[in-house]
Amino acid sequence: MDIIESLEWRYATKKFDDSISIDDKKIKRICKAFNLTATSYGLQPIKLVVVKNKELQKKMKLASFNQEQVSTASHVLVLCIENNVDTEFIQAHSKNTKELRPDGHDEIDAYGKVLINRFESKSKNETKLWATKQAYLALGNLLTVCAIEKVDSCPMEGFIPKEIDDILELDKDHLSAVLLLPIGIRAKNDISAKINKVRRPLNDIVKTIF
Ligand SMILES: Cc1cc2nc3c(=O)[nH]c(=O)nc-3n(C[C@H](O)[C@H](O)[C@H](O)COP(=O)(O)O)c2cc1C
Repeated sequence: MDIIESLEWRYATKKFDDSISIDDKKIKRICKAFNLTATSYGLQPIKLVVVKNKELQKKMKLASFNQEQVSTASHVLVLCIENNVDTEFIQAHSKNTKELRPDGHDEIDAYGKVLINRFESKSKNETKLWATKQAYLALGNLLTVCAIEKVDSCPMEGFIPKEIDDILELDKDHLSAVLLLPIGIRAKNDISAKINKVRRPLNDIVKTIF
């Protein structure tokens, strides 16, 4: 299928067929796509928590204003940000870079120091906002990849973050939930699948300067 056809096929799925499970192979591809998302400085201040547990999904639904897609999904992908983007985190990134790149280790160390200084001068809120932007970037990537893989999904910011953090005990891993992405196969009676997509006319949303 052409990429545009895939993007037209996808829609924010409000109800999944809860008898259908997405196979592990596809989940692995989706996880790999998450990891391949570009991030600012390449620091990846994000983590994907994959939930496949109906009991937890029921609790998460209550923390998501009762949105049915959370409990009927095959899996709920929870896009989290790292709470501690600190010296230790940046040093771990430099170490990983050196392991994967045989050359230029002095430059990698020097760049690591620049990043440590840069992040030390940011407030906790600035760093949180920066990390959250990276999570949205990953969400965009996952929406497209899921569409290509013929996996339905619903991007969601309609939930109470603190409650999701508590249900999944994310604090133990120094994470905060910022976005949910329930995935699965659309239910036959999901009326959202049948309504026309609403988008601005192309010549209104794109301006070309010659
Ligand atoms: C960041 C973000 C958050 C969203 N949050 C929700 C949500 O909490 N619940 C929901 O049903 N849809 C949510 N949506 C889906 C949008 O309403 C939907 O993508 C938009 O109306 C366009 O429709 P389409 O995705 O079907 O083309 C969200 C979308 C985005 C990108």
